[in-house]
Amino acid sequence: MSRSIRIAQISDTHISPYGGFEKRLFEAALEKLRRLKPDVVIHCGDLTDNGLLPEYEMASEFLDSIKPSPLVVPGNHDERNYGSTLFREFVGPMDTQVRVGRLAIFLMNSPEPDRDEGRLGRRRLLMLENSFQDLVGEDVVKIVVFHHHLVPVPYSGREMNVLEDAGDVLEMVLRHRVDLVLMGHRHVRRALRIEDTVLVNAGTVSSIRTRGRLGNSFNLIEIEPGKLMRVFEANLTEGVERLLAEYPLRKQ
Ligand SMILES: [Fe+2]
Ligand SMILES: [Fe+2]
Repeated sequence: MSRSIRIAQISDTHISPYGGFEKRLFEAALEKLRRLKPDVVIHCGDLTDNGLLPEYEMASEFLDSIKPSPLVVPGNHDERNYGSTLFREFVGPMDTQVRVGRLAIFLMNSPEPDRDEGRLGRRRLLMLENSFQDLVGEDVVKIVVFHHHLVPVPYSGREMNVLEDAGDVLEMVLRHRVDLVLMGHRHVRRALRIEDTVLVNAGTVSSIRTRGRLGNSFNLIEIEPGKLMRVFEANLTEGVERLLAEYPLRKQ
């Protein structure tokens, strides 16, 4: 019997020495992560609040305290104030692919400098298309990660939250039966399945900008390949973990 895979999905930490960042919530998340022992930790962007040098310095120190070392995509806040150069320096490449065991993880840079809107664009779509073709017949779990939303998320407001090319991205991930799409951005945790693909948004770990009574949180996703996927919310404000969604998976 194959062992279940545990993914911790953290997001929107908005780390900053200038306010708006709740260090005690970040530390509560660290404590929970230590206990949950995920196979991989994925950060869905807005690592910093304004893309500033002291914020990246602080964030890189905090990232070092998370084990295993998180995979991070940039958020719109990270690319403010020419922050993309600092992201590359302190975090790493903005678009990359990583293999962790049987997970094939594609980390995509959806923001553009000094814009809140996001898109993947033709170059990234083609790169994903080619990579998925190469994986045909392989026993892998395909995961795509970016900051903006792929479909509208309730309670997330009326701004430009969905990717500008969401239709093209959605068509491609469904056609290639991508197992999981991970996103952040508007601080609302949410899980939804469309055809064979599960879309999961994470809330904010440590920003004061929470929505309604949703509080601060991160997600834990457990996958038993060919059997079941469960999405849990670890709510840091209430100190509870609760099941958000459970999906039977197609036999591989
Ligand atoms: Fe955010
Ligand atoms: Fe954002």
